[in-house]
Amino acid sequence: MTGTVLILGGTAEAAALARIMADERGRKVIYSLAGRTVTPRLPHGETRTGGFGGVDGLKDYLQRQTVSVVVDATHPFASRMGWNAAQACAALGLPILRLDRPQWEAGPADRWTMVRSWDEAVIHLTPESKRVFLAVGRQELAPFAGLKDIWFLLRFAESTAPQPRPAHFTLIADRGPFTLDGERALLREHAIDTLVCRNSGGTAARAKLTAAAELGLPVLMLRRPPRPEGPSVGSAEEAAAWVRSHFIDAH
Ligand SMILES: NC(=O)c1ccc[n+]([C@@H]2O[C@H](COP(=O)([O-])OP(=O)(O)OC[C@H]3O[C@@H](n4cnc5c(N)ncnc54)[C@H](OP(=O)(O)O)[C@@H]3O)[C@@H](O)[C@H]2O)c1
Repeated sequence: MTGTVLILGGTAEAAALARIMADERGRKVIYSLAGRTVTPRLPHGETRTGGFGGVDGLKDYLQRQTVSVVVDATHPFASRMGWNAAQACAALGLPILRLDRPQWEAGPADRWTMVRSWDEAVIHLTPESKRVFLAVGRQELAPFAGLKDIWFLLRFAESTAPQPRPAHFTLIADRGPFTLDGERALLREHAIDTLVCRNSGGTAARAKLTAAAELGLPVLMLRRPPRPEGPSVGSAEEAAAWVRSHFIDAH
């Protein structure tokens, strides 16, 4: 089989896969981003930016670019793109793989409460939660905007003020990976009493959980949204092997 690999990106794993594939001959690789970040980290090779226009737009794109296989390596909390891709690939008979970094698991020192939504997290915030590290996406702040008695620490890749936003907050512009020393210092410096975050998995954002466990802090942890059925791997190397297996005839 010859043709093109489409990587639906926006994660470190997606960029790692693009880097691995860029060094290999015999196939074209296109790395796709939604375009939410103004200054994204882009891998070498061909990239495209912006939505496809739903399932039909994606089907058109896949046909125009003669895509042979798709790797959905979008973020674990990007809830729509993977479903659109699964639908478009099913309609065109294209193989699709999910590249999903493994979830974090709670250890004995962790004080996690699992929640299914941010509304549920708000319900679980106790009266003792006064200084909360809200490690959530910038589009996810609305449920916390009405909590006037809590001060929030926010951390995003870019410093633009989010909207809607909490009444009382400090915004830090920083990108991972974050170190354990750095996260411990951050939690102490801001006297954080509660951590709210998503089960993103991976190593780049894990340190804040270790620091929270060390300080005995409660964590409200958002479960991942459901994903389409289908083959799934946990690393860029495994995804690369899957892609190669679909191009075996080309060698
Ligand atoms: N959600 C997060 O917390 C988070 C964190 C880090 C990185 N990201 C990355 O940011 C992007 C957007 O996140 P989201 O939560 O808005 O995703 P989403 O809910 O799954 O997708 C919303 C829409 O954005 C477009 N889109 C998403 N990913 C795309 C991609 N890789 N290439 C082209 N179009 C894409 C699609 O538009 P059309 O329907 O028009 O095709 C999709 O329907 C994703 O690529 C994700 O990997 C997300």
